[in-house]
This record gives sequence, structure tokens and C-alpha cells, in this order.
Amino acid sequence: ADTLREAAASQGRFIGTALNDALLGDPAYTAIAGGEFSSVTAENAMKWGSLEPNRGQYNWAGADRLVEFAAAHDQQVYGHTLVWHSQLPGWVENGGFAPAELRQIVDDHIATVAGRYAGSIDRWDVLNEVFNEDGTFRDSVFYRAFGDRYIADAFRAAHAADPEAKLFINDYNTDGINAKSDGMYRLVSSLLAEGVPVHGVGFQSHMILGQMPSSYRANLQRFADLGLEVAVTELDIRMNTPADPARLDRQADQYRQVVGDCLAVSRCSGVTVWGISDRDSWIPDVFPGEGAANLYDDAYRPKPAYWAVLDAF
Ligand code: XIL
Repeated sequence: ADTLREAAASQGRFIGTALNDALLGDPAYTAIAGGEFSSVTAENAMKWGSLEPNRGQYNWAGADRLVEFAAAHDQQVYGHTLVWHSQLPGWVENGGFAPAELRQIVDDHIATVAGRYAGSIDRWDVLNEVFNEDGTFRDSVFYRAFGDRYIADAFRAAHAADPEAKLFINDYNTDGINAKSDGMYRLVSSLLAEGVPVHGVGFQSHMILGQMPSSYRANLQRFADLGLEVAVTELDIRMNTPADPARLDRQADQYRQVVGDCLAVSRCSGVTVWGISDRDSWIPDVFPGEGAANLYDDAYRPKPAYWAVLDAF
């Protein structure tokens, strides 16, 4: 195969990236985004804080650009994300709403956003990061108002707004079998038992070099065995910077393992990497001293990890 997307397609999988629509003017960025990937996720443009910074004033430009880019390049769209405790507008987070009003606000948000893009979205992260590390539910403005009921309600609202989209719940540090992924397993099992429209689980897979969870494949498989789709949704593998050739080779091996584990699970539909090049990556901002986490270097040259992913599919 000459491109990642051809390689992934040969296995019936998608290969995605997080797109920063502000970079779509850059020719190198745009050529890779359109040519190499078969799915795109909005890195930020579909988050509540981006879409509706002030109550009732939606700013659709970035999200619309992404959906148009995907259509022009025959790509799937992975919607990210409808309900999340982070990157919320201040008016939602600090509004002090009574539960009944907050319920209306969340329902309206889901209906408006999922409704606008219905027909264009293949998968939605309806919920993102609802768990604490010990597998209990994370405290949030939603959890405080409703308890865990808000989760099932969000799936039902998303399904009503876009009956075609596959509805996902997504999290980090749920990549291996551990207390947090056990919490996810209990939740989706009970949602399925109640007939809630949940179709998939996303595993963010923000990894550290040399720390591939040994139970990664078995973990994906146990969710697949519930009849759910699973997907790798935000893959990157960070290291201490500056990178060196030995570490970049070990990183390539780890990327290869992740793709291989997805391919070993028939219900694993694909892999999304979180950004195109090391220079667009969120990692150096959030983890000082770390980076070099992506498939392309700062000059948009493919790294060993790129060739490993191409070869692994
Ligand atoms: C990150 C973006 O990459 C950054 O640009 C932004 O400043 C913060 O959010 N988990 C998620 C993603 O679900 O939405 C986050 O994206 C990374 C962690």
C-alpha cells in the first residue's frame, strides 16, 4: 500500500487523525490529512466550549469546515464529543442550574449538534471521560445534578437526533484491564442490559513509550465480546524529548503492536492517531519535556512509526 488509508482499507479498517481545522490552510498538513487518512476527528472544533461559547450563540465554522473537508476527501467523520466535563463553556459549568434546567440544556445541545450533522457522522463520542481512575464515576456538573443517569439519557438523546450514527463512550487509561476499564465494562454491560443505544467503546490510547499495557488486546476483546464495536480513538506514544533514533524505533514497534492488537479483534473498526505531526501535537503543552508522539516529525516527514503502521495493516 502507498498510503495509510489504503493499507487500513485492505484490512477493512479505518485510519483516522485528529484535525485542527485552523491548520487546513497549510499545504503540507492538508495533503497528509486528505491523502493518508480515511477518518477525521475534530481535535477541538466539536467540543461544547468551541461550538457554543455563549448560550444560544453557536459558532459552526470550524466544525462545518471539518465535515466539508471529510466529504471532499471521502473520509468518515468521528464526532467528538457531545457530553464531557472538560472544555465546557463557562455558562454551562458555572451556571448553577437546577437539574431540570440543566437537563433541558444538555438535551438541547445534543439535539442541536447531533441533529445538525446527522447523516455526516459515522461515530459520535456521546460521552467522554466519565470515570475516575478507580472505576467510580467522575465528579462533574452533570454527575452532581443527575448521578450516572445522565449517561443513558445522553445516549438516548443522541440516538433520537441521529439514528444512523454509531454511539460511543470514550476514555483514557482504560486501555488495559484495570480498575478504570472494569468500571467501563460494568457500565456498558448495564447499559446494554437496559436497551440503551450504545454501540461502541473508544480507547483513547494516549500512551507512554515502553508502557504498552500487556492486556491491551484482551481488554479490547472483552468489550468486543459484548457485541460492541471498539476503536482506538486518540493514539499517541510520547517520550522524553529530544527524541533519538533508538527511541523512535521502539516507538515504531509500539505503534505496530497497537495496530496489530486492533487487527486481532474483529470488531475493532480502526485506529485514530491524535494529530498529524509532532509539531501539531497537544503533548508538549500538557506534559512538559515530553513529545515526539506522532507519526510525522516537525517537518511533516514520516517517522519510523509511520512505516510501522503502514506495514502493520
Ligand atoms: C485535547 C486537544 O488535543 C488540545 O488541543 C486541547 O487543548 C485539549 O484537548 N482527551 C480527549 C481530547 O478526549 O479531546 C483531548 O484533546 C486530549 C485528551
